[in-house]
Amino acid sequence: MNKFAFVTGANKGIGFEVVRQLAERKYHVFLGARNVELGEKAVQTLGLSNVTFIQVDVTDIQSIQNSYKKIEEVTDHLDLLINNAGIAPDFHILPSEIKIETLRQAFEVNFFGTFQMIQTFLPLVRKSEYGKIVNVTTDMASQTLFDSGEAASINILGYNSSKTAMNSLTLTLGKEFGDKGPEIFGVTPGFTTTDLNGNSPGGKTTAEGAKIITDYALSIENYNGKILNKNGIMPW
Ligand SMILES: NC(=O)c1ccc[n+]([C@@H]2O[C@H](COP(=O)([O-])OP(=O)(O)OC[C@H]3O[C@@H](n4cnc5c(N)ncnc54)[C@H](OP(=O)(O)O)[C@@H]3O)[C@@H](O)[C@H]2O)c1
Repeated sequence: MNKFAFVTGANKGIGFEVVRQLAERKYHVFLGARNVELGEKAVQTLGLSNVTFIQVDVTDIQSIQNSYKKIEEVTDHLDLLINNAGIAPDFHILPSEIKIETLRQAFEVNFFGTFQMIQTFLPLVRKSEYGKIVNVTTDMASQTLFDSGEAASINILGYNSSKTAMNSLTLTLGKEFGDKGPEIFGVTPGFTTTDLNGNSPGGKTTAEGAKIITDYALSIENYNGKILNKNGIMPW
């Protein structure tokens, strides 16, 4: 049976490389992007016949439902849903100074967006024998690592707390799905130089960051309900 994956926020950055790596492993990959022009250009750049563009804005339920219909026309099951789309709108803004609109915006994409992607695509993921949902998270969302200074000490409320909420979503759904599946877990690529952080130097390349995600996505180990970094299970 053919294998199918859907990666959100994949017109650039880590998501773009996740698409490439899964396509190289013979998956048919749906490259999700909210901007049609950028998404189609990304597919063209990859030049792989097993990659298809799908428009999806994770904050727009109509757009998510349209993407579901498009994918359902091609396949009756989805093996991998990679919730990679994410924003960090408050870099350089102190927690006490963030505007409420900016805080809500972070939650709209990172938390509510991820939730409505999962809720919509669950029926299709459940039709795969080995269906997996991967939520791309950050070590900055771990209260333990952030408090101890082991995570990047970037004290930003919107990004960090919306990803912490996403981790909670991962845990609660993991408990609900249990042994029956699908498997759901979070993975952080770790500091990777991308537009998200203003292309800060010293991070991993997007291919290196993406490999951490695809290695877990393709692993035969069961990581249901766990939050993972390159070394394994990460503290909350
Ligand atoms: N870079 C790091 O150091 C790092 C570390 C840990 C975790 N992460 C996580 O890795 C993931 C990918 O980030 P990145 O570093 O590759 O950042 P990036 O280059 O900025 O890519 C983010 C992607 O998300 C898309 N996106 C934003 N809002 C969206 C929406 N409403 N609907 C659909 N797509 C949307 C962007 O689309 P547009 O191009 O249209 O804006 C873009 O394709 C994020 O979840 C991020 O939190 C990154």
